[in-house]
This record gives sequence, structure tokens and C-alpha cells, in this order.
Amino acid sequence: MPTLVIVGAQWGDEAKGKLVDVLGSQASLVVRYAGGNNAGHTVIAGGKEFKFHLIPAGILHPGTKALVGSGMVVCPKGLLEEWDRTIAQQSELGDLIISSAAHVVFPYHRMLDALEEEARGENKIGTTTRGIGPAYQDKVARIGIRMGEFVCKKRFPRRLKEVLEVKNRYLALFGKEPLSYDEILAEYTAYADRIRPFVRDTEALVAEAVEAGEKVLLEGAQGTFLDLDSGTYPYVTSSHPVAGGACLGTGIGPRHIDAVLGVCKTYTTRVGSGPFPTELTDELGDHIRTIGKEFGTTTGRGRRIGWLDLVALRHSCRLNSLSGLVVTRLDILSDFETIKVAVKYKLDGQEIDYLPGDVEVLARIEPVYHELPGWKGDLRSARTMSDLPAEARAYLDFMAEYTKTPVAIVSVGPDRAETIVANENLIWAK
Ligand code: GDP
Ligand code: IMO
Ligand code: MG
Repeated sequence: MPTLVIVGAQWGDEAKGKLVDVLGSQASLVVRYAGGNNAGHTVIAGGKEFKFHLIPAGILHPGTKALVGSGMVVCPKGLLEEWDRTIAQQSELGDLIISSAAHVVFPYHRMLDALEEEARGENKIGTTTRGIGPAYQDKVARIGIRMGEFVCKKRFPRRLKEVLEVKNRYLALFGKEPLSYDEILAEYTAYADRIRPFVRDTEALVAEAVEAGEKVLLEGAQGTFLDLDSGTYPYVTSSHPVAGGACLGTGIGPRHIDAVLGVCKTYTTRVGSGPFPTELTDELGDHIRTIGKEFGTTTGRGRRIGWLDLVALRHSCRLNSLSGLVVTRLDILSDFETIKVAVKYKLDGQEIDYLPGDVEVLARIEPVYHELPGWKGDLRSARTMSDLPAEARAYLDFMAEYTKTPVAIVSVGPDRAETIVANENLIWAK
């Protein structure tokens, strides 16, 4: 049963969107399993740039079902704008399906996200202010409004009234005027009318595809170290980006996951606050940000840049039980004399080779680097491993050896075509 998870192995923006598009052409079903429009997944195909925040990046393949999974929180306005924009860019798309169990993001979630961030002051998380944390808070508190209720003409007005009463009391604590029930109801009823045809119970549909042995691709969002449990808490998102989240956010049991590919950059980036052991706060970091055009797809913020952290990546391989690595942006590291990778940390004078869990400890660690020779030239036309310079291959071998995880795919540019399959057997097989 070829069910494959694509997971972000670092702090997000590893190029999951590109990979889901590349492999989505072979899948009959692509399900995004976590997060909301805090994500920004870029696909470059046929000379066009597509940006997905909520719609699975597999939608560009007609004949593929693209499912917004039950683990997601969905802003209806954002979803409709994305749908209209995508269909204007490409008229033939896959079938969009939305799980009736996904939660809906409302204006009060976005307001509370911004207000809670402001209240955190110096300790702010640096959220995308898309209302993600507050929407998941409602889910956990069991007062969230799910897609199934949202598109039900009878239930939605009653549920909105109930929840808005509570939210307006909470907004008052921040000195805010109450939000108007009538205005939200009118605006969101219009969204619900457009979204209704896409919403359905999806567990059976997913189970049947898995049982029939169809190729099913589970698209992660964010990254392993932004995971609510496994990430650098509290500087995390409010969902489960790790591979385990793919079971929760789609309704597939763990025995039906056949392969897990972890997408990672040849260096590291992070957006927002929180520990980042290999961060480069100097000119070199600025240089990589410029040549790599490292600015957020969702917020436009400059991404923090650092060398590849192999200690963290190995931890990620374990947390996600990765069967293979997808290494992206190899092209960006061309023309460096030498390239550094962190292979250990120093903590209070002692060397350690694991990633500590506590942010205060993480803030004290110093990376210990290993230097590898760089390579020269433009890699973007490479299509096989043998097209790559020997030093680039040695860099990939070092990553695989250190993490004990083989390289399945290498990306040498943003376009769909700029992809090298290093080991076909690792992609859909066990
Ligand atoms: P995601 O959130 O993991 O889907 O990643 P993003 O789309 O936010 O960020 C990845 C960025 O890198 C996008 O702008 C992609 O077009 C771009 N990209 C993907 N793969 C490569 C690559 O191999 N080389 C270069 N230079 N850019 C890439
Ligand atoms: P993709 O799917 C990178 C970060 C935010 C912030 C933290 C919490 O494109 O890789 P939130 O709005 O989720 O409450 O913010 O998580 N963050 C991301 N960083 N890529 C993403 O998604 C992210 N989604 C959230 O910057 O630090
Ligand atoms: Mg992104």
C-alpha cells in the first residue's frame, strides 16, 4: 500500500510544496494533514509560480484528488481567494475536497493571535497572525466550529452565536469592542454557500484509496521543530507537523504508512523567534538570504539563515522515522570555498551529540562544526547524480552517513524539472 508522507525535517519552508507537486503527478490522492494558512507552499511549473497556503500542492494535476485534511484549520476567505487565483492560473485542476472535520478560522482567531502576541512582548513567538494558535485552542477546548457545521444552514447561526459570546468576553479583557454577530454571520454564510459543495466526510474516501493500493501522498506543513510536542516549545506552531501528525490529520492508521520522506535544505532557515543553534547573524547569513531569496511565502519576512545542523537533522530523522531524505537548494551552496555542518554541540564546556529539549538549554549550546570542501558552477541543469560535482555528491553522502538516512531526491532549483531522483526505490516503496 503505497502511502507516502512528505514532512518538513527542519523549521519549515524546506520546499515541501515543490516535492508534493513533483510526486503528486503519480498520486491519485494528496491529503494535507496539518496547519492552516500559516503555511506557504510554492510550486513553479510551466513558467508560472503558484502559492498554496491551504490547498494541497497536488491540485495542479487533473485527475488527482486534493484533500484538505481533518487536522487542518481553514480560513474560508483565504481558501476561496486561493481557489479563484489558482483556477485563473490553470483552468484544469484536480478535485478539491474538504474534510467536514477540519476546523474553521474566524476573525476573532486572527484578532486574538495578534493580541496574544502583543501581550507576550519580548517573548513573542513571531506567529504569522493568521489565527492558527487560537483556532487550535478552540479545537482543544471543544468549542471550535468544524467545516461540517459551518456549511450546515441550520447549525452554523446557532454555533456562531454560542462561540462569539465567549470570544467577545475574551476580547473585552484586551479592551476590544465586541464583534458583530450579524456582520460575521452575513459574511461567513456567503463563504459557506461557496464552500459547501467541496465539504464531505473523508475517512472512508481515504481508507478506500489506501485499501485499493492507490498512491496516496500525505502533505505536511511547517516543520518538525515547529511541532507542538517535538519542537522548540513554546516557539512552535499549534499543530503536529511531524510524520505522526499525518495519521492524526487524515484518519490513516500508523500501519498503513509505507514511506516517510523528510524534506531538508542544504542549510537551515527559520522564520519567527526561538532557538536556532547554527544561526548566522553576520554578512554570510545576509549573503545566503539574498542569493537564496529567503523571504517568507506567507508573511514576506526575511528568514533567519544558518549552516546545516546535522545534530538536529538526525533528531528529525528519528522523530519522523524517515525512510529517505529530500535535499533541496543544493544550487544555492555553489561557489563557497568550504561549507560548514554542525556535527556536535558544546553545552557548558561538554560536547553532546543530541538536541536538548528545553529552550533555555538550547539557547546556551554552541555548535561544533565540520568543514567540507565546496564546489563551483551552476547546478540547475543537473538531472542525474553523476551530473553533480564530486564535492556536492560528497556533501550529500556526508549528510546521509551522519543521519543514517539515504538521499532519495535532490532539488537543484525551484522548477518542477530541476529535480534529481537519487534512489527511485525509496519513494513509494517501504
Ligand atoms: P515549503 O513551505 O516547504 O513548501 O517551502 P516554500 O515554498 O515556503 O519555500 C521554498 C522556496 O524555495 C520556494 O520559493 C521554492 O520555489 C524554492 N525552491 C524549492 N526548491 C528549490 C531548489 O532546489 N533551489 C532553489 N534555489 N529554490 C528552490
Ligand atoms: P510552511 O508549511 C515556516 C512559524 C511562524 C512562527 C511559528 C508559529 O510554509 O513550511 P503560527 O502562525 O503557526 O502560530 O506561528 O511557526 N511558521 C512557519 N515557519 N514555514 C511555515 O510553514 C510556518 N508556519 C508557521 O513563523 O515562528
Ligand atoms: Mg513555506
